[in-house]
Amino acid sequence: MSLPLSVIFAAGSSGRWRIDRIEEVIGETLGGADRLAVVEGASMIGEAWTLRGVTSNTRYAARDEVEALRARQEGLNRSQATCAALIPIRKSAAWWALAQDERRAIFEEQSHHTAIGLDYLPGVARRLHHSRELAEPFDFLTWFEYAPEHARDFERLVDRLRRTPEWAYVEREVDLRLSRD
Ligand code: HEM
Repeated sequence: MSLPLSVIFAAGSSGRWRIDRIEEVIGETLGGADRLAVVEGASMIGEAWTLRGVTSNTRYAARDEVEALRARQEGLNRSQATCAALIPIRKSAAWWALAQDERRAIFEEQSHHTAIGLDYLPGVARRLHHSRELAEPFDFLTWFEYAPEHARDFERLVDRLRRTPEWAYVEREVDLRLSRD
């Protein structure tokens, strides 16, 4: 397990990623901007907006799932992965009032989040950032990178997850699609 990594997502007029679209999924959206900088372990402020998150230990993945993920997942920054998605998500008070075992049951036994996600590996690489403990507007900043040939698969993945019982607890979600040369 690597140490927690602080990550800043800064939107404005500079940054490696071009923002292709910002879609309001649930609740209030984020302001428009042209570019996004993803900065690891350093501070930065975006002219339009700034979101902060930190990587952490797993909460829900069981041993066999950890092994299955490890066997299939690939890292960020692959040269062919010129498409990305940033999906900030906030869950409801009802979700956070649940006990850990109840959340796990909704997340996996009812919603099959990991099982669904595994179908899209290794094409999609991911990194989960926690923001709730930083008193940020979102609880999670989810980040994905994939090659253009996997863009349609990624849309299918997001669509499947949004139809699960877990998403009944999502009270704010914005979907950003990005690309780079
Ligand atoms: C959490 C897998 C795609 C949103 C997780 C966790 C796993 C996982 C294993 C739990 C980590 C832990 O144990 O703490 C995957 C895989 C995906 C995928 C393999 C395929 C690429 C997505 C997508 C979204 C998403 C597309 C958003 C639309 C989230 C959120 C959490 C999460 C918000 C945190 C849930 C919570 O702690 O309440 N994911 N995921 N995931 N994932 Fe995914």
